[in-house]
Amino acid sequence: MDKLIIFGGKPLRGEVKVSGAKNSALPIMAASLLTEEDCLIKNVPHLSDVYTMAKILTALGKEVKFESDRLLIRHRRSQSFVAPYRLVRTMRASFCVLGPLLARRHKARVSLPGGCVIGLRPVDLHLKGLEALGAEVKISGGYCWAKAAELRGREIFLGGDFGSSVLATANIMMASTLAKGRTVIDFSACEPEIVDLAKVLKKMGAKIRGEGTPRIVVEGTKSLGGFEHKIISDRIEAGTFAVFALVSGGRIKLQGAEPAHLLAVFDALTKIGASIRIKDTEVSVSGRRVKPLNITTFPYPGFPTDLQAQFMVLLSLAKGISVITEKVYPDRFMHVAELNRMGAKIQRFGPLAVIEGIKRFSPAEVMASDLRASAALVAAGLNAAGKTVIHRVYHLYRGYENLQQKLEKLGAQIKREDE
Ligand code: EPZ
Repeated sequence: MDKLIIFGGKPLRGEVKVSGAKNSALPIMAASLLTEEDCLIKNVPHLSDVYTMAKILTALGKEVKFESDRLLIRHRRSQSFVAPYRLVRTMRASFCVLGPLLARRHKARVSLPGGCVIGLRPVDLHLKGLEALGAEVKISGGYCWAKAAELRGREIFLGGDFGSSVLATANIMMASTLAKGRTVIDFSACEPEIVDLAKVLKKMGAKIRGEGTPRIVVEGTKSLGGFEHKIISDRIEAGTFAVFALVSGGRIKLQGAEPAHLLAVFDALTKIGASIRIKDTEVSVSGRRVKPLNITTFPYPGFPTDLQAQFMVLLSLAKGISVITEKVYPDRFMHVAELNRMGAKIQRFGPLAVIEGIKRFSPAEVMASDLRASAALVAAGLNAAGKTVIHRVYHLYRGYENLQQKLEKLGAQIKREDE
């Protein structure tokens, strides 16, 4: 296990290239299970989650080559249909192999992902959607077993207690491409990553419309071909670096961002008092004062839950009281205790966090708990004048490519050490 040591208190200045989107790469890698032809994905970030998905595809009979930012997936054999627990438990997103596996090989056995620190992570909507398409689904021994000689299109309402589901939409959209007839997914997720996945499926020959809206319509086809695709840039990484710029009192130019995917984030940053300059795919973020703000997280296009922890650090530096309401993962507050150990004044009331502004974070030894909470601790460490040590930093490397190098290039004093 590694730890990250940050000597904070200095403004970050310079340019950073935004990497490809983790949450686009993962379902698009899973889509390769719908065909036996070659699939080439470009702009893929080197992340442990991508490596995990590659291992799962290999266990399912694919050969995966990952050179530079290009990931080539070739078909080797189709016998296997089991996504093993030892891999799925390390990354919940693995569950999105279920739909394509079932549609192409007519049976699938995928370990249930289980919960994690940000919430229970149920999969009821995934299973509801597959059963609606005619699959026989049962849960046994911690695995989801699904089989279907043939899937048949249906109108499916996929909304849950917390609104739409990104990966359930991905699973059902992928499965329905090979179903017989028309599938309508009502209350589908509208995330840019779903639109990117639909683009790939259409390149493979699928007939899809309505992606990016809450109603996706898929006309099933007999088979799908391979694809070549450059994935979108990571809007959550872009938002995270915008927070790094502001908590350090510096200025960062994000290169290769997709401003259209960041409208809710820019809205919040502007209200907080940041200055944002946009030129095509370049976004410069800077700002001195931080004004308090109330933020509620929603499915896209609302404010993203994956930036909630990072914005909690930013709002901790506001002059006044802010409230964050977490509507997607009501328990996603593991970062609160650690931030309070760094001098923050945050109180949690169920899905709400009340944040009282402080002048500056104090350096401390802290423990990372999940991917985005770790990014929040890095942000607090960049603000604190002195030495902050973040333990269990492997969480960070699941979702941020070359984070240490990118921060060093911006002037951060940061190093990684073995525990
Ligand atoms: C995706 O997870 C992302 N992961 C998450 O990012 C992100 O936080 C989440 O969407 C919400 O935006 C990937 O894309 C790989 P959901 P997903 O299904 O699809 C409930 C990160 O940090 N729900 O949209 O698993 C669920 O409990 C990760 O990069 C059900 O009730 O999330 C949650 O409250 C963390 N039943 C809400 O829906 C279900 O069957 C949204 O979850 C499925 C979900």
